[in-house]
Amino acid sequence: MGIKERLGIAKGHQYLFFGGKGGVGKTTCAAATALWLAEEEGKNVLVVSTDPAHSLSDSFDQDIGPEPTPIEGIKGEGKVDAVEIDPEKETEKYLEMIKDVYEMQEGGGEDLLLGELEEQKELLKSSPGIDEVAAFHKFMEFMELTESGEYDVIVFDTAPTGHTLRFLSMPEVIDKQVKHMIKLRKTLRQVQKFLRSIVPFMSSDDTEEDEVLERLEMMKKQIEEIREILSDASKTAFRLVMTPEEMAIYEARRALKTLNHYEIPVDMIVVNKIMPKMADACDFCRARREMEEKRLELIEKYFGDKEIIQVPMFPEEVRGVDKVRKVAEIMYGEASPA
Ligand SMILES: Nc1ncnc2c1ncn2[C@@H]1O[C@H](COP(=O)(O)OP(=O)(O)OP(=O)(O)O)[C@@H](O)[C@H]1O
Ligand SMILES: [Mg+2]
Ligand SMILES: [Zn+2]
Repeated sequence: MGIKERLGIAKGHQYLFFGGKGGVGKTTCAAATALWLAEEEGKNVLVVSTDPAHSLSDSFDQDIGPEPTPIEGIKGEGKVDAVEIDPEKETEKYLEMIKDVYEMQEGGGEDLLLGELEEQKELLKSSPGIDEVAAFHKFMEFMELTESGEYDVIVFDTAPTGHTLRFLSMPEVIDKQVKHMIKLRKTLRQVQKFLRSIVPFMSSDDTEEDEVLERLEMMKKQIEEIREILSDASKTAFRLVMTPEEMAIYEARRALKTLNHYEIPVDMIVVNKIMPKMADACDFCRARREMEEKRLELIEKYFGDKEIIQVPMFPEEVRGVDKVRKVAEIMYGEASPA
């Protein structure tokens, strides 16, 4: 069995997530994976950053906008487009949508619920997960792009663990919100109908379709689908990145627990920034390597049932397509690390 099969790269995953503690190399691994899939598998790949502090543009050393931007310098059949989600803009859009829920096109009734609307908006704005909710909303849009065949794979470069895990709990959160909004919308319609029945000069058009309600019902269905996709190991894989250090390992273990809770399959562990063997000539580096050996044993103990990949520390930052390709070769190719 070749490494590609072992890693499930050839399994046809559509959604790949990279998560882990701050600074361990999530963005680097996401970029490398996207590049590998495009260059070696001929896939059309979208790599999405959901981290408010973006760095995909640093990895690829190129400007990346809030809409899919083609990455230059990718060889072969496939392509890589990259996008950095603007959480603030998405939050605004999401709040607009919520506002729609409370507003009927004509005929009043809003006034009765205006207080509730303001309250809800304030609550939403200040709730800690609002940027994740908005990002997830955008994420659903991107998922449709694979359904429509525009992309074969979407690689998600996520924010440091805490944020990401909240992001992944979004289907649950949004599901609750949407259900609540559906209920409110229905109440609002009843109020409107009632008003129309008692106010003689108001038109009463009971058959009028409620577009907003339809949109909400659709969203509810979509969220259910997303939950299914995220827990489907043939479509989705979450890959945990860590450095051979106690804190990073600890955080990855916590993440794994949460991912298990949401039934999101984890297939790979990337241990990044390992001291290369050639550093053994120096006392300092040799001491570090010995410490790292112990950490690697820990990693084997905790994550032994996953594919564990080691990526050495490079003498310089991983910046630009050529360096990203080097990381990809170590992660997925035949080249052996260090
Ligand atoms: N194997 C490596 N060797 C040397 N430098 C590396 C390696 N992997 C990543 N880096 C560098 O380390 C820094 C952090 O990497 P990266 O941005 O991928 O981490 P991250 O987990 O996405 O960080 P953040 O939590 O801030 O999003 C970058 O400057 C990157 O170029
Ligand atoms: Mg990053
Ligand atoms: Zn040294």
